[in-house]
Amino acid sequence: MTDPLVRVAAVGCGYWGPNVIRNLDALPGFELRWVCDADPDRLQPVAARHPAARATRRIDDIFEDPGVDAVYLATPVSTHFELTKRALLAYKQVLLEKPLATTVQQAEELAELAASRRLTLMVGHTFVFSPPVRKVKELIDAGLVGPIYYIETTRVNLGLFQKDVSVLWDLGPHDLSILMYWLGEVPVTVSARGRSYLGEPLEDVAFMTLEFPSGILAQVQLSWLAPSKLRRTSIVGRQRMIVYDDLEPVEEVKIFDRGVDRQPASFGEFQLTYRSGDILSPRLDATEPLYIEAAHFLECIRTGRTPDSGPQAAVDIVRVIQAAERSLRCGGGPQPTYEAGVAIEPTS
Ligand SMILES: NC(=O)c1ccc[n+]([C@@H]2O[C@H](COP(=O)([O-])OP(=O)(O)OC[C@H]3O[C@@H](n4cnc5c(N)ncnc54)[C@H](O)[C@@H]3O)[C@@H](O)[C@H]2O)c1
Repeated sequence: MTDPLVRVAAVGCGYWGPNVIRNLDALPGFELRWVCDADPDRLQPVAARHPAARATRRIDDIFEDPGVDAVYLATPVSTHFELTKRALLAYKQVLLEKPLATTVQQAEELAELAASRRLTLMVGHTFVFSPPVRKVKELIDAGLVGPIYYIETTRVNLGLFQKDVSVLWDLGPHDLSILMYWLGEVPVTVSARGRSYLGEPLEDVAFMTLEFPSGILAQVQLSWLAPSKLRRTSIVGRQRMIVYDDLEPVEEVKIFDRGVDRQPASFGEFQLTYRSGDILSPRLDATEPLYIEAAHFLECIRTGRTPDSGPQAAVDIVRVIQAAERSLRCGGGPQPTYEAGVAIEPTS
């Protein structure tokens, strides 16, 4: 017997939403029942590309439709808490874009609401579904890198400026979701500096330093104000080093058999010897990450499985960004993400 179709409605046909809507519609287990955008100019082209779905400017049409099982939300960050809460209260399974919310308190409220209603709540932390990111996790877990010393990541471009959140909330979730997925741990402290160079109230450039419980340090550079687009991460381990460059057309992941060894020399002294071996690029699955993400959402709805980018990971990401924002407001000093196991709320 085949599983019944999951009837999904998509809200938000702006810059990002149409990419995910295309994949939801392409997946055989979903029936795309509605497309919705408050702005008719954004709604119309998406409605034309998905003629079997009904089109509406009124999100209530979706919440009120008992034939809708699941909702995908690709609306601005400032709407995430309210719209997700309304969707869960209407007993819909939810996939929403990152971040889950903009305070830990709100994120936890959504997580608890989904749990109490036994509904899937998944956040579109897209990179967790990307084949190169998954390959790097496999390599780390297999011990290929050895103990990791530090990770450095750059996510910069000219634009796209967001109106309702800073670059920390816009681009930060990507790197945090990747780092926490790879390392399987949540940073204990975060320091952040940032600036709004264009004079807007929200930062357009931010630098974060994260310290993980294992002692690993990560440096994250985020900018909407850079001469060229970079999406590059270096992982430096005792045995090997990995470079993941999301903009490389074919060899997104490269493994460098390089390192420095500290060898005993005479009279209790040590000398450093450098290793410079082969550079390998593993074969990667060519499936589109958003298709994998949509398929994962479907699987979680059908089986009740907790999504890989589920409430706990999503709340932790909000927790780290909120701590980073606190650090940024008080000059860049390290801020704990948890204190004695208790979430820390914003000071302002
Ligand atoms: N996963 C990724 O890689 C990725 C990339 C870019 C953006 N995003 C996320 O996608 C979301 C949307 O970003 P965007 O750049 O597409 O924004 P956008 O402003 O281009 O689009 C948002 C759309 O939502 C519509 N909208 C807002 N409130 C609505 C409501 N109540 N009812 C119906 N329609 C409503 C707006 O009219 C607009 O067309 C954000 O959460 C962002 O963080 C994710």
